Amino acid sequence: MTKLDELIVRRIRNGTVIDHIPGGQSLNVLKILGIRGGEGYTVAMVMNVDSRRLGKKDIMKIEERELAPTEVDRIALIAPEATINTVKNYRVTKKMKVKLPDEIKGILNCTNPNCVSNKYREPVKPSFIVASRTPTLLICKYCGTYITHDEVVAQYALAG
Ligand code: CTP
Ligand code: ZN
Repeated sequence: MTKLDELIVRRIRNGTVIDHIPGGQSLNVLKILGIRGGEGYTVAMVMNVDSRRLGKKDIMKIEERELAPTEVDRIALIAPEATINTVKNYRVTKKMKVKLPDEIKGILNCTNPNCVSNKYREPVKPSFIVASRTPTLLICKYCGTYITHDEVVAQYALAG
């Protein structure tokens, strides 16, 4: 059956399709992946199409690019329902649901400069408890500072 996204953007030959991104969040997924355009990747985005599960969803297709495990963990922070499809020769060869654990370790820094996890000399890895998944709200395990969805995105967005 032809799917709605394929009416807008064709199937890809090789690469990654990130599906079930909450509607309107695909630009933030791009930021997390550090894709700004100059890298030369062929990228297609479908924004705000109807989804039975999510109401509205975004889809991102990146040709000739695979995702590193830490990138998948970061995507889970803003797209906790996302599916990562690896496409080889037009076939989905791997389908993986992202998983946001109850505790986030190491992939994000606390926004409180005085937090012990930001002290250069302390061997403490930043750690957060997930207070809410949609939208993302995290609490630092060490100092109790709240980290909002926007702050998560800001941390991954490259300057310029
Ligand atoms: N896709 C693509 N190019 C391909 C194969 C798949 O762009 N060569 C896209 C599809 O359009 C879809 C996603 O990758 O957005 C997953 O494909 P598929 O597993 O075939 O779709 P579904 O069964 O609908 O996926 P799910 O069950 O995860 O919703
Ligand atoms: Zn902290």
